[in-house]
Amino acid sequence: RSVFSLPEAVGLDSDRSDEENGEMDWDNLGFALTPTDYMYVMKCSRDGYFTHGKLNRYGNIELSPSAGVLNYGQGLFEGLKAYRRAKGAGFLLFRPEENAKRMQVGAERMCMPAPSVDQFTHAVEQTVLANKRWVPPSGKGSLYIRPLLIGSGAILGLAPAPEYTFLVYAAPVGTYFKEGMAPINLLIERETHRATPGGTGGVKTIANYAPVLQAQMRAKSKGFSDVLYLDSVNKRYLEEASSCNLFIVKGGVISTPYTNGTILPGITRKSIIELARNNGYQVSERLVSIDDLREADEVFCTGTAVVVSPVSSITYQGHRYRYRTGEETVSKKLYEALTSIQMGLVEDKLGWIVNI
Ligand code: COI
Repeated sequence: RSVFSLPEAVGLDSDRSDEENGEMDWDNLGFALTPTDYMYVMKCSRDGYFTHGKLNRYGNIELSPSAGVLNYGQGLFEGLKAYRRAKGAGFLLFRPEENAKRMQVGAERMCMPAPSVDQFTHAVEQTVLANKRWVPPSGKGSLYIRPLLIGSGAILGLAPAPEYTFLVYAAPVGTYFKEGMAPINLLIERETHRATPGGTGGVKTIANYAPVLQAQMRAKSKGFSDVLYLDSVNKRYLEEASSCNLFIVKGGVISTPYTNGTILPGITRKSIIELARNNGYQVSERLVSIDDLREADEVFCTGTAVVVSPVSSITYQGHRYRYRTGEETVSKKLYEALTSIQMGLVEDKLGWIVNI
């Protein structure tokens, strides 16, 4: 792959030096949208093939009012991060092929064609290189990359759209929760469910996210960081939070809800399971009940945006359960293990990093 090739669009001026971002406050990045310079766009017509991807100036896109994504929610998104190398030039991407493959699985579920793994990673690399002045200095944050796959063709009756658009944009980010690196407090929601058996909880469709906003906003207004959802059949087993997967630790054993179609197969989730096992922990993917939560020593959340976020309390039916946090926790060790690979501070023995 020609990862060092110049970005493809004509008139690209992404070689502007990093100094041009002198006005950026890199010390106070949250998870907010900072518009960057370029986005990658690739279309797919009725023949089912994506071709002619190119970088465009970042900006609004034109869609038919009857685009499939606007009317029937035919859309997927992904999230991954690029880090600036601490020493020397270049950037590190974390497991972009996993995002590409997850998009392909989701596309099948949502009746959409998907870009190939090579097309996906190429688009991501081009987006990073074109926006390199927006990649925060090492240790200050990352460039969050947001690939979208949408039914952009016009359709009125309920059916797959006749045309699709794959688009990749990016924005510099810091920590996801307003707590920063501090532990978060979660609220268990009994009335709203994120996913149902046979639904789309296991794929990263845009349609999974708006339905949780009401519960999320209610929880935030009471001072919680996010909501934990229960399974919709028994209202007893934990699934995940609105924005991330869930892990508990009890007596040195790490458990996380197994992916049975209602839980998003997070790439950070999968990586943490592997890293924990490599570090000698027993990891169990199983049903995790409210009773397990009551007895847990430690709880943490994982996701691309949240990375590994320690949980200091979970509130359920008026009871607040508290958990161990701090330097000596399993989550802290796993956070260090993961981010030192992502930031290139240790050797990438697992082949997870793509250097660009
Ligand atoms: C991510 O972690 O990348 C996500 O897609 C979650 C989103 C709610 C920010």
